[in-house]
Amino acid sequence: MTEFGKFKKRLIISGGAGFIGSNLLHLMVPKYQDYLFVNVDILTYAGNLANLTQLEKSENYKFEKIDICDYESLERCFDKYDINGIIHLAAESHVDRSITGPADFIKTNIIGTFNLLELARKRKQAGKKLRFHHVSTDEVFGSLGETGYFTESTAYKPNSPYSASKASSDFLVRAYFKTYELEVVTTNCSNNYGPYQFPEKLIPLMIRNARAGLKLPVYGDGRNIRDWLYVEDHCRALDLVFHEGRTGKTYNIGGFNEIENIDLVRQICRIIDELDGKSDGTTEKQIEFVKDRPGHDRRYAIDASFIEKELGWRPKYKFEEGIKKTVLWYNENENWLENCVSGRYLKYYEENYNNR
Ligand code: NAD
Ligand code: DAU
Repeated sequence: MTEFGKFKKRLIISGGAGFIGSNLLHLMVPKYQDYLFVNVDILTYAGNLANLTQLEKSENYKFEKIDICDYESLERCFDKYDINGIIHLAAESHVDRSITGPADFIKTNIIGTFNLLELARKRKQAGKKLRFHHVSTDEVFGSLGETGYFTESTAYKPNSPYSASKASSDFLVRAYFKTYELEVVTTNCSNNYGPYQFPEKLIPLMIRNARAGLKLPVYGDGRNIRDWLYVEDHCRALDLVFHEGRTGKTYNIGGFNEIENIDLVRQICRIIDELDGKSDGTTEKQIEFVKDRPGHDRRYAIDASFIEKELGWRPKYKFEEGIKKTVLWYNENENWLENCVSGRYLKYYEENYNNR
């Protein structure tokens, strides 16, 4: 037994310094004082320890700067903390970047997931228990036409290098359940929004550009549809599925909230006009239709009735409420936004962690 044996569960949260990972840690670390949370993150441009300053002093929170593609370092981490659970979020997550540079997506999303699965399998072989929750996306299902929804039995048809790499990782997780009877559960979620999202993704990018007087680049005709979910609702679902999801099952998570991109951008503009006391229609003038994303999926929409029926989960936030809260958060955290954009957070680790 290690010194961490006093904790009932010792969990790796991979990618804990990213958008969803940091929101999840904010939810779970105070809630489960008898668990140890080990945030395993290599701190790419998207990982940011400044998201987690409030947790740094918590006795049940640790940070390990590890690349999930580095098997030996991961193994040392598993042994050091006697890990018995994983919520796996670490990934390259931005579709546009996967189009211009797919290699990192293949490495992190496929090889990284494989390493975690292998270490979990090794634990099982040694007679230890470990639960593996794989966090995935609705993009694995490809694109919908005007009607219909993604369900847990929809066939996989990924269209971007990002979604293909996530689909590969989902299949590996499935194979480790079928072949090695590993205790796994997978969730496939729709588009998240909320605090701490890197401002390359649609919503924080539009908020930042709007305030900075820059153009608001809408791809193609702006009629692509995404199903938006407030990140806190996603995190509540992850907590629930990790604890109560049926082993071997996949759960779709969505917001029941389909919006065309152009309507969403206009809504953000209206909120900003209102907050800044500008006349209605002022910020909208910054909208510019630009060249479409190659292979751009037209519509995503999740049927989240299975998780509701099995586990009683439904989103709490209405979009109008969530988006206002989000714009306000970015307004109040302008430094956070600008530090992300300038890459200044990459220095945060060097300055605050290296000598500990
Ligand atoms: P993010 O890009 O904000 O964060 C990813 C985190 O992973 C960062 O902290 C980064 O430093 C870390 N990371 C990247 N490569 C790593 C590596 N090789 N080793 C260790 N750490 C590494 O992503 P996010 O939006 O928070 O998404 C988290 C997960 O949820 C991803 O698996 C993503 O596919 C999935 N997901 C995201 C959304 C969404 O809307 N954002 C929706 C559904 C599913
Ligand atoms: O569906 C879940 C997925 O949602 C996650 O798996 C991904 O990690 C996450 O990045 C997100 O992918 P999208 O490609 O849907 O998100 P993004 O914010 O990049 O784009 C949302 C929509 O807005 C999409 O139709 C493209 C469009 N867009 C995006 C940007 C960045 C624009 O029109 N202009 C932009 O500048």
